[in-house]
Amino acid sequence: MAEIEGVLDKMQLFLGENVYQLEREFADYCGTRFAVGVGSGTDALYLSLRAVGVGLGDEVITVANTFIATAEAIVQAGARPVFVDMDADTYAMDPSKVEEAISARTRAIIPVHLYGHPVDMDRIMAIARKHGLKVIEDACQAHGAEYKGVKVGTIGDAGAFSFYCSKNLGAYGEGGIVVTRDREIATQVQILRDHGQSSRHDHAMIGTNSRLDELQSAVLRVKLRHLDAWNTMRRALAAEYNSQLFGLEEVVRPTERPYAKHVYHLYVIRTPDRPGLSAQLRKHNIATGIHYPIPVHLQRAWLAAGYSGGSLPVTESSSQEILSLPMYPELTVDQVHYICQSVRDYFRPQRMRRGGVFRGPRLGGQ
Ligand SMILES: Cc1ncc(COP(=O)(O)O)c(C=O)c1O
Repeated sequence: MAEIEGVLDKMQLFLGENVYQLEREFADYCGTRFAVGVGSGTDALYLSLRAVGVGLGDEVITVANTFIATAEAIVQAGARPVFVDMDADTYAMDPSKVEEAISARTRAIIPVHLYGHPVDMDRIMAIARKHGLKVIEDACQAHGAEYKGVKVGTIGDAGAFSFYCSKNLGAYGEGGIVVTRDREIATQVQILRDHGQSSRHDHAMIGTNSRLDELQSAVLRVKLRHLDAWNTMRRALAAEYNSQLFGLEEVVRPTERPYAKHVYHLYVIRTPDRPGLSAQLRKHNIATGIHYPIPVHLQRAWLAAGYSGGSLPVTESSSQEILSLPMYPELTVDQVHYICQSVRDYFRPQRMRRGGVFRGPRLGGQ
């Protein structure tokens, strides 16, 4: 409240001290040179694409198992998204599918660190280098996640983060940020976010209005100090879920690859009986979500792009089975136990009918 009142006392409401400090602090947190605050994660992607020169007629390779904003930003930049399938275990872009999607028009790749698990970036970067492509990381769900000890968002040419309120680092409204080690990209985003002004009343290019505001930045600066502690709590809760759900063959638990530090923006399981399980959990006052039930390429808005069912088999089959269980730092271990017990209780009668053996929760297992 003191920080919010400080902003209101000064009445400098956008692009002021808090924005610039947040940019410095977030760049330092990520271990990179520049950060530029913008209006949303969607704009962070869109302005990064523009800043690396993606435009009309270009193609950008990304995934369809993501929030629609990833693909929207590509279209807003004038380009066409080309979707590739995902890795069945990590839900991340499958690097082995990227090269076959490259055409003469391809300019960039957007890997998405979905749910907080990093994409295998070495393989993506090797392909990008070989073909002269730019890489924009969609890190909107992955604040603080690491790939081989390096913060995601800092590996490609630029990284886009969202500060939507439910994110690992969330504002009290909308916001986003672009991180980059490239001064030219940072300068371009700074100009584009403020109507293309390179100095007052001098509009060097067609930009947009996407300025991060001071109130959000003041809140984010306070919350940034807690991000690592909150991520640690998320990881501890995920470990608790993993051990409590161990041995339940109807449930596939999330994977964390050896190169990854997962920050569990979401804790996503897979189960063939999703409707039954989620209805049962609702009866026990446990909310669940589906991220995302319809892959982007099968959304109505995308029908004209000519994609059809069957083109991304792993993405499409997983979209029928994924279920997000409650995950936020304030969740207690007792609540996780209650949720896992409810999951086990749901599958117990089915097991009995099949004559299966019911194994109780085992602590510490994977
Ligand atoms: C993977 C992904 N990309 C992009 C976005 C867009 O961010 P925002 O909602 O801040 O525009 C989000 C968040 O909503 C997201 O989860």
